[in-house]
Amino acid sequence: MTATTVLQTAPLAIDEEAADRIFRTARTTSLWTDADVSDTQLEAAWDLAKMGPTQMNTLPLRVLAVRSPEAKDRLVAHMADGNKSKVSAAPVSLVLAADPAFHEHLDVLFPVYPGIKDQLAPAAETREQMARNNAFLQAGYLVVALRAVGLAAGPMNGMDAEGIDREFFGDSGWKSFLVVNVGVADGEGSPYPRGPRLSFDQVAQTL
Ligand SMILES: Cc1cc2nc3c(=O)[nH]c(=O)nc-3n(C[C@H](O)[C@H](O)[C@H](O)COP(=O)(O)O)c2cc1C
Repeated sequence: MTATTVLQTAPLAIDEEAADRIFRTARTTSLWTDADVSDTQLEAAWDLAKMGPTQMNTLPLRVLAVRSPEAKDRLVAHMADGNKSKVSAAPVSLVLAADPAFHEHLDVLFPVYPGIKDQLAPAAETREQMARNNAFLQAGYLVVALRAVGLAAGPMNGMDAEGIDREFFGDSGWKSFLVVNVGVADGEGSPYPRGPRLSFDQVAQTL
């Protein structure tokens, strides 16, 4: 038996249904039922996603939930043509942004390193890079968390991010990098066939 076969048949530490819901049958969704998404559901997803690890516990992800038709129109104006109808159709669209001023929270979030807040304050470029890297990581956790609370997610970055920042974020410094449509999937949730994935053997090396 090869190592790959052993891994594929290894028992999971979560039940099969959870693995299907979170990974195996979950699709990047663009077909929705008309079920609403409540703030309570979004908060439940955040309460899972926030526990995912980030560098020095920085948690630089910021989220703007766009739900009203007026706010949706403002967002759609900055989406790539192929993504406009997907944002319009989704029950709620989350604009995910990275906050380069994440260091302001570090006295509370990372007390094991006293002084890190002041150390990072003059390092604007470092903070921008850290914010983007770690916010992207958190975006992945959030997609998985949304699935765990029974919702479906459709992430997309075909958009004018600077336009979105001017439209919604003013002088806050938040930098948008992804829009995630959220709702309850209609059927499989996607009109496209599932794309293949790379196997462990194709992506991993062991030394
Ligand atoms: C960072 C990121 C950016 C994406 N941008 C777009 C986009 O602009 N428009 C779009 O329709 N789909 C976009 N997608 C969706 C991907 O094409 C989709 O997640 C991938 O093909 C896997 O699909 P599946 O989850 O249904 O298997 C994006 C996904 C990610 C994670």
